Amino acid sequence: ASFTVHADAVKPISNLLLGVFFEDINYAADGGLYAELIQNRDFEYTPSDREYRDTTWNSKHSWRLQGTNATFSVDTIDPIHSNNSHYATLTTTNGNASLINTGFDGIAVKNGEKFNLSLFVKRLKGSVKSVSVSLVTRNGKEIARGVIPVASASWKNIKTVLTATDSASGAQLAIRPLSAGSLAVDMVSLFPQQTFKGRRNGLRNDLAQTIADIHPKFIRFPGGCVAHGDGIENIYRWKNTVGPLESRKPQRNLWGYHQTAGLGYFEYFQYCEDIGAVPLPVLAAGVPCQNSGTGGAGQQGGVPLDQMDEYIQDIFDLVEYANGSAKSRWGKLRADAGHPQPFNLKYIGIGNEDLISDVFEERFKLIFKAMKEKHPEMVVIGTVGPTFEGTDYTEGWKIADALQVPVVDEHYYQSPGWFIHNQEYYDKYDRSKSKVYLGEYASHLPGRPNNVETALSEALYLTSLERNGDVVTMSSYAPLLAKDGRTQWNPNLIYFDNKEVKPTVGYYVQKMFGQNAGDQYLPVSTVLSNNEDGVKKRIAISIVRDSKSNDLIVKLVNMLPVNVNAQVDLTGLVPPRSAVKKIVLQGDPVDKHAKPQESSITITDKSTLALGPYSVTVIRLASD
Ligand code: AHR
Repeated sequence: ASFTVHADAVKPISNLLLGVFFEDINYAADGGLYAELIQNRDFEYTPSDREYRDTTWNSKHSWRLQGTNATFSVDTIDPIHSNNSHYATLTTTNGNASLINTGFDGIAVKNGEKFNLSLFVKRLKGSVKSVSVSLVTRNGKEIARGVIPVASASWKNIKTVLTATDSASGAQLAIRPLSAGSLAVDMVSLFPQQTFKGRRNGLRNDLAQTIADIHPKFIRFPGGCVAHGDGIENIYRWKNTVGPLESRKPQRNLWGYHQTAGLGYFEYFQYCEDIGAVPLPVLAAGVPCQNSGTGGAGQQGGVPLDQMDEYIQDIFDLVEYANGSAKSRWGKLRADAGHPQPFNLKYIGIGNEDLISDVFEERFKLIFKAMKEKHPEMVVIGTVGPTFEGTDYTEGWKIADALQVPVVDEHYYQSPGWFIHNQEYYDKYDRSKSKVYLGEYASHLPGRPNNVETALSEALYLTSLERNGDVVTMSSYAPLLAKDGRTQWNPNLIYFDNKEVKPTVGYYVQKMFGQNAGDQYLPVSTVLSNNEDGVKKRIAISIVRDSKSNDLIVKLVNMLPVNVNAQVDLTGLVPPRSAVKKIVLQGDPVDKHAKPQESSITITDKSTLALGPYSVTVIRLASD
């Protein structure tokens, strides 16, 4: 194959092309990225969090009583906050019983590690003056301990630091009154002291860093389906997720578990800022998933029309929360949380692959028009519909055309063959219409593995997104995270357990493209010795330049089972220092563990590069 670059025909492309899609699916947030180690810390789990109202999923979930002559019950008489109505009461007659929390599949502890413990406590009856809080291994060995006072008959928030004296993979937290009596506890929280960037109420360091290593240009949150919910009452409301933790409103996660809202809008914005990514919140278009809500007459499936003003005001308030002055009503809440400066929100998604019905259209129009009038500075991203087999986006695009929506969100999960054979998908898009955010995509095989075959088909497709980076402004693989043994969806980009992060082959492809993005595209003409479609479609090249560093980046994908010699003509583009960085990811199609290898090579104006079978190669020519 020979490739000749046409530097004179360079075109600008989006500088936000590759980002990440974060959704709380597969325990991505609670038990995952959100570093809280106590499960059901607020005693708010309910049977309705689960399909078929699982009664084991109640206020006592993950908690148990250990010891003798004691009782553990859940009360609602005098809660810390009405949004968190349940709390535990513990009564002991001999001070020889503990309330145990089993964490999210246990608590992983490293010898010497420090933990921030916080809980709300009040004395009910008797003479309990203090309680011990400790981390205990499955065999009962205490590996960290602190003692906290119970000094008051009203709720007090007490904090202490626990330091581990040993390691354990499945430790538990034990709260033990040191004398007989009754007390109430709530919001029992344990965080590793070392969170990402040391943030309070922060993120798991290793996971947050693995995501940051992609160099995502934006983060979409909080979903996915979680954003629009599976009923009107399940729509994700940002206001429920900000402010003091004890005042946030937990809710049922439609993926079959419980959402604490501990990882809420403030934490999402802060994470974006910490990694230099643009925040992209996606809000429901006043309709839940597939318009599945039950409204009143005439409002079936969506937020009742007479409540839409209020719904839209919530969106305006979000803009104020993110961008308003610290003196404004909602900006003050942000400032009170420790961020007086604005978060510089520019993009808001409205709708998530909704069924494009009259119910949707009516509400989307109301929101879009109101936003345009009140916040012309914001870019509103619309949606063109669901991805079920056989559907197309015609109805969604009609609305986008009529309203001149600046960007629309498309989603598709397809086979590697589809991605290989549809690399011209966006070549045909009308440049005068809305731009596209490919908000969810992934290559799916039977059994849903994430392997070299799926990852290379995504790499091929990513070269086509770069080529079409004038019309495709953003893209994000979905979903991002999955906890081993807790998945509702496969494949994902990054798997993890309590101790380890396990990036996939697809992750490495995203990282290769994310770390080597450009904002200028240099067209290439390709000559192949074999022009059969099956061959042609399995070889791709993309050349971009990053105008900040002036680095030139060449990406080559070979999805053939044989070596390909690529003659690359870069006449006039090779800088004097010709030693350049080369990154190659290669493996058998079924390989799930291939990792990129980095080396240094020498490049001349006309170089021949050997592309191994089933490989993706990135060559970065740094300008001097
Ligand atoms: O990415 C997983 C799910 O796929 C998302 O929640 C939804 O938007 C899509 O159907």
